[in-house]
Amino acid sequence: MAKPLIAGNWKMHGSLALIEEFGRAFATVELPAEVEVALIVPFPYLAQAAQKLASVGVCVGAQTLSDQPSGALTGEVSGDMLRELGARMVLVGHSERRSLFHEDDQAVLGRIRAALAVGLTPILCLGETLEQRDDDRTEAVVLGQLEAVFDALDVDERTRLVVAYEPVWAIGTGRTATPEQAQAVHSAIRQRLVGYSSALGENTQILYGGSMKAANAADLLAQPDIDGGLVGGASLQVDDFLAICQSAG
Ligand code: 13P
Repeated sequence: MAKPLIAGNWKMHGSLALIEEFGRAFATVELPAEVEVALIVPFPYLAQAAQKLASVGVCVGAQTLSDQPSGALTGEVSGDMLRELGARMVLVGHSERRSLFHEDDQAVLGRIRAALAVGLTPILCLGETLEQRDDDRTEAVVLGQLEAVFDALDVDERTRLVVAYEPVWAIGTGRTATPEQAQAVHSAIRQRLVGYSSALGENTQILYGGSMKAANAADLLAQPDIDGGLVGGASLQVDDFLAICQSAG
C-alpha cells in the first residue's frame, strides 16, 4: 500500500509571509504519522520554504525544471539548483505546462530524466481535457501520457516517481471529479503500473488533483486507488490545507 501524500501546488501564488504562516501552523498541529506532506512553491520561495518547513515535516518541491543540467538557457532553472535550495520534489507535465508552455510528452520525459539524474522525486502529472473525456478517450490519453514516460525509463527509475491524475476540466474550476470517476482512472493507472511490475503498482503513490478541498477530500481519499492529493487553490489557505492533510490519515 502506498503511503498517503498531500502536496500543495501554489502555482504562481504565495509570498514569504505565507510561508511563515504555514511554518507556524505546521509547528503546532499533529498530523497522522503516516501522511507525507509537501508544498510545491514558486522558485524564489524555495530556500525560505525549505528552511521554515523541513523542520516541521513538510517536504518542499518546485513546479518545473530544465531538461538540461546547465547552459546558455536564459530563464531556465536546473535540477541541481533546486536541490541546492532544498527542494526534494518537482512537478513535471502539469497540464498548465503542457497547454500554456507547449510541453509535449518528449519535453516531459526530458524533465523527468533531469529530475531523476539529480535525485529529485518527480511528480508526473497526467490528465484529459473535457473534450477528450466527452470523446471517451480519457483512458487512452492518460495511459498514453503515462507510457510515454514509463516505457522509456529503466526498472529502477520507474520506482522513483509519484503520479498525479489531474483531469484538466477539474483544475481551478470548482468542478471536482466524483470519487467514482477519479477511482476509475486511478484504477486504470494502477493496472498499467502493475503491467510493469506488481511491486510498482502496489508502491507507486497515485495522487488526485482538481478542485480538491477540505469538503471533498475525505471522499476522494477513501477510494482504494487514490493515495493522496495534489491541491491547488485550497493549498493557499493554511486551515483548508491542514484539514485536507488530516483527512488523509
Ligand atoms: P485546483 O485544486 O485549484 O483545482 O488545482 C489543481 C492543480 O492543478 C494542482 O496541481
